[in-house]
Amino acid sequence: METILSLHGINQFDKEKTTINITDLYMKKVLVIGSGGREHAIVDALSRSPKVGKIFCAPGNAGIAEQAQNVAIKETDVVALKSFALENAIDLTVVGPEVALAAGIVDEFRAAGLSIFGHTKQAAQIESSKEFAKKLMQKYDIPTARYKSFSNYEEAKAYVFSQPLPAVLKYDGLAAGKGVVIAETLEQADEALRDMLLDDCFGQGCVVVEEFLEGPEFSFLCFVCGESLYPMPLSQDHKRAYDGDKGPNTGGMGAYTCLPFITEEDWTYAFDKIMKPTAKAMQSEGLPLTGVLYGGLMKTANGIKVIEFNARFGDPETEVVLPLLQSDIYDVFYSIAENKSIENIEWEDAATIGVVLASKGYPGSYDKGFEIAGLENVDAKIYHMGTSIKDDSIVTSGGRVMIVVSKAPTLLEAHAKVMKEVPKIKCDNLFYRSDIGHKAF
Ligand code: AMP
Ligand code: GLY
Repeated sequence: METILSLHGINQFDKEKTTINITDLYMKKVLVIGSGGREHAIVDALSRSPKVGKIFCAPGNAGIAEQAQNVAIKETDVVALKSFALENAIDLTVVGPEVALAAGIVDEFRAAGLSIFGHTKQAAQIESSKEFAKKLMQKYDIPTARYKSFSNYEEAKAYVFSQPLPAVLKYDGLAAGKGVVIAETLEQADEALRDMLLDDCFGQGCVVVEEFLEGPEFSFLCFVCGESLYPMPLSQDHKRAYDGDKGPNTGGMGAYTCLPFITEEDWTYAFDKIMKPTAKAMQSEGLPLTGVLYGGLMKTANGIKVIEFNARFGDPETEVVLPLLQSDIYDVFYSIAENKSIENIEWEDAATIGVVLASKGYPGSYDKGFEIAGLENVDAKIYHMGTSIKDDSIVTSGGRVMIVVSKAPTLLEAHAKVMKEVPKIKCDNLFYRSDIGHKAF
């Protein structure tokens, strides 16, 4: 280093500062797209990589700001994001939300010679179009619920009215998690079909009408590069707002890993008959996957079936899965972005449970701006989902506000740990479930 310093004519007083700068030259700059708990968990995992020197997050949130530099660009503003990446010589961009994939961020970045982890717009149809996903599964014999799709309201109604209830109606397009209606009565089914096909509530489109399936659901996330799949630990989301799976559906009130109801045989079936053939099918269709394939699967009495595919990390699943990753996540993301093979991905053999703290009233309307205190007392990972900074304090700014994640050798221990930590967070307007992972006990 002495030689380098003198070669550059730098005097001894600047030595320390200059040494850091030279090291920085070899450290990678990463841009993460998104603003939720999922992105916070991605930023946290990247910050554990010795290769990563600087992390930006667009647009980020108050918690992410502690580990990365937030950039005030919307996740769908592809043009501005591309300019930022080019101007700042970003080595790798990692996409969190599906809206950015559906906006074509991967196609745009690649055309500009930028390295990016995520699927192309066409490949992301596996999530953005229910009909595309169903057709693919039918063509390649991937087990899923029987279905029929309709763009005409009268025809859809006649079909639904001739089938047993409940009716499963899925709007064909991204609908921010609101595109699925499980109608218990014909009146509810009719109202949903009107919303989806007549009143343009969601936009122009068609409706997939599906056979109703029953059984426990679980999330099978894999890193995928073409036909190569690297499975992550299984996890399970808790969609209902209140304990005992009561109350309205939400974006997810918590999640856990180490699912006891999935046997080794189930896992092998799900991997060999669902996840692998789906990646292969996408490759055969000329739409190779280069990101995360998320199988939303159900263990029914007639075997494991696909409920949905997502083209991204799940939220809150990511927050319980990535803390178990032992390999360098930069290598994983970069290899997939550059279409290179990965030797092996190592995961810790432990259980995690994540409990979401949400604003009172969520998923309905709720107030924002409540101060959150006590975070420094919590001995667990905290990923922010909907927070911002006001007058130097962290305040609530979303429906789901943060998730507290504990890790332990067993689920029971992880549950005891997380339930000890969550009450240390003080805020007048938050609620949480105390039974996350209960299905496993
Ligand atoms: P999706 O957005 O397709 O995952 O649907 C949201 C939720 O609706 C799923 O997590 C399931 O709980 C439920 N669901 C979707 N499709 C079906 C189905 N065919 N049978 C029963 N429940 C379903
Ligand atoms: N946890 C559900 C999702 O990410 O879509």
